[in-house]
Amino acid sequence: MTLEAALRTAVGPQHVLVDSALRRSYETDWTGRYHGTCRAAVRPATTAEVAEVLRACAGARVPVVVQGGNTGLVGGSVPARRGDDHPPVLLTTTRLTDLGAVDRISRQVTVGAGVTLATLAAHARAAGLDFGVDLAARDSATVGGMTATNAGGIRVLRYGSMREQVAGVEAVLADGRVISRLDGLAKDSTGYDLGHLLAGSEGTLAVITRLRLRLVAPQPKRAAALVAVRGAAAAVELLAFLRARLPGLCAAELSFDAGLRLVARHLRVGLPLAAAGGAYVLVEVAGEADPLEDLLAALAASEQVIDATVASSAADRARLWQLRESHTEAISAAGMPVKLDVSVPIGRLAELVERLPHTVAAAAPGAELIAFGHLAEANLHVNVLGAECNEEAVTAAVLRLVAELDGSISSEHGVGQAKAGWLGLSRTPAEIDVMRSVKAAFDPLGLLNPHVLLSPDSSR
Ligand code: FAD
Ligand code: MLT
Ligand code: ZN
Repeated sequence: MTLEAALRTAVGPQHVLVDSALRRSYETDWTGRYHGTCRAAVRPATTAEVAEVLRACAGARVPVVVQGGNTGLVGGSVPARRGDDHPPVLLTTTRLTDLGAVDRISRQVTVGAGVTLATLAAHARAAGLDFGVDLAARDSATVGGMTATNAGGIRVLRYGSMREQVAGVEAVLADGRVISRLDGLAKDSTGYDLGHLLAGSEGTLAVITRLRLRLVAPQPKRAAALVAVRGAAAAVELLAFLRARLPGLCAAELSFDAGLRLVARHLRVGLPLAAAGGAYVLVEVAGEADPLEDLLAALAASEQVIDATVASSAADRARLWQLRESHTEAISAAGMPVKLDVSVPIGRLAELVERLPHTVAAAAPGAELIAFGHLAEANLHVNVLGAECNEEAVTAAVLRLVAELDGSISSEHGVGQAKAGWLGLSRTPAEIDVMRSVKAAFDPLGLLNPHVLLSPDSSR
């Protein structure tokens, strides 16, 4: 039996897409930068079907690329371009959409890996709870992909990243065996935590099929403000001040003039602040009681505020959030950026912001730098437009600067294909050796996402 025939038996013929027109949307990533060919896109609907697909691929020694919502920004969800002569099978999880009943006592729920963030949040809210992680790609990003990348987003300062929401994982190993720990025990110290190891593994260790996720209490009353400050150092000071005064602070997002103006042009809207700052912070406070008065008082007491616009109605808050959340889309509409996602110790954020323009200009003269990000984690999204011919030089210069500042080359998007060659800037040779051993223990034939995270040149 051919591999395609075995796959058809596993998932049904209509879910094995071999025609190039049908495969196309699975073969290119959200950014349009990463593209490769797969021999078939396969759409299993159950854990048993995922296991059959992986067993068939292992038997044929054919690699498998795992894809969720395909909103990843580092090329991890699509085949590698250089693999065109030995194309992988692409396994999409978008039919793994079971929604279990919300357990209000443990505040947990078990859902399929292909459930989108928006669907999960709506499901939790219908049961009087909420989900702690939120990000702009919520309508397409899946909980499996978010776990595999250890996604962060706009509420990390309150609830942590995706790994912190994971109470249990079911996954299929490359040889088709299933590991499952979905009991959601509040305490369990029985050796290695394999579920949490899969958080951030980027599809290189196993295919996550179901997740037991923690939910949080809803915070129905909200107020937000867009605040102009002198620069990144002042933004950090403002954050420290607001954190001490506002226990309900749940978001602090950083942006700059270049990004806000690009977004405003893209959306055809005006900017809500008259005074220009060196940096802008979008803060949100949430709680059981209306936090507006506390937010206003805190902003009035802060020495860092040059100007601020405050929003309490849902519509006004949405307008402020749209200015922040549309950065990715507005940048992509302007061109294909070199996209880097980095973090540094928060005490060094101002230095990073100050040195970036020169660093980028030296690597790509005339290119346009647009940075924004998540202030509390000192996580900066560095986007460089007009640097198509200098991609490698920009990447090298920015990532080396970040390493010099003791930062991380991958703050929340993962390593993917984009940064596999740069792993050595953030992990020691000993750590990379252990990571390779872990990969070999889970996937001895090296079939799962072989182009992601641990590439042959990961030690540079
Ligand atoms: P995919 O893109 O399909 O895959 C991502 C990686 O996970 C790949 O390596 C893939 O192989 C692997 N994978 C997917 N599903 C599974 C599975 N079931 N088992 C094992 N491996 C799997 N990210 C943030 O962290 N914070 C943000 O604020 C944020 N904002 C974004 C805004 C926009 C507009 C966009 C387009 C993206 C944003 N992202 C953000 C990036 C992206 O949404 C996240 O990385 C998300 O976690 C990817 O989920 P996905 O389902 O689309 O995964
Ligand atoms: C964001 O915070 O909006 C994202 O992580 C997306 C990006 O970096 O473009
Ligand atoms: Zn982000």
